[in-house]
Amino acid sequence: NNEMIAIAIDGPAAAGKSTVAKIVAEKLSCVYIDTGAMYRAVTLKAINKQVDLQNEGQLVRLLANTTIKLKQSAAGQLVLLDTEDVTEAIRSQEVTNNVSYVAMHPEIRREMVARQQALAAHTSVVMDGRDIGTHVLPQAEVKIFLIASVEERAKRRYEENKRKGYKVDLEELKKEIEQRDLIDSQREAAPLIKAENAIEIDTTSLSISEVAEKILFEVYKIMERPVN
Ligand code: CDP
Ligand code: CDP
Repeated sequence: NNEMIAIAIDGPAAAGKSTVAKIVAEKLSCVYIDTGAMYRAVTLKAINKQVDLQNEGQLVRLLANTTIKLKQSAAGQLVLLDTEDVTEAIRSQEVTNNVSYVAMHPEIRREMVARQQALAAHTSVVMDGRDIGTHVLPQAEVKIFLIASVEERAKRRYEENKRKGYKVDLEELKKEIEQRDLIDSQREAAPLIKAENAIEIDTTSLSISEVAEKILFEVYKIMERPVN
């Protein structure tokens, strides 16, 4: 289908990927796919089932018996783990602190990438994560790499938590973000890295709508190109 488009948005934690990905997807009538939510969902299940997160074989068997669905609803995207709504539960501190250890296993990634590619096979998508431009959708028409200073990213998460009524320490958040970025960037399997042909946007001093505008500008440039 010539009309299909894939937009990959990667970058470190709290750079604003999911917020702007949702806006861009809405604007272009694409499906938004939050790949981080998929890693978070299997991490939640592994914690609940007391699976050793270092045991790749056990995690792989667990994932093989797990369905993860991203369901669009009026209230936003819902994450369904098997049949349970885990939209909120996957954002817990415990999941956040453990997800990068689950996501470093090559066989877990292999299965996740296959599922993510299947989700994008027949429809236009905006997909966000860490390895979308490099591994999941290497042929994506538009690849974006969002960055921001770690201070700014910690501040954003801090404000977000405050809005939700959670009390968290800014320094703790900064440490957690730095730790997760380090693991994600240094793992052997599909580390967090800017794809060669990705457009890097430093969002440190940009608003959400300014970032969305910049991405849409890149998309419109591509869409105007004649189909050959
Ligand atoms: O939203 P936030 O930046 O906190 O993280 P996320 O996008 O929900 O991703 C959670 C974790 O899943 C990341 O820190 C990575 O360890 C892992 N992940 C990954 O390895 N590959 C992806 N494509 C997406 C997430
Ligand atoms: O998906 P990712 O972890 O990259 O980040 P996010 O969850 O989309 O954004 C983290 C927080 O930063 C959210 O509360 C956004 O509202 C906020 N944000 C912002 O203040 N300015 C931006 N340019 C982008 C996001």
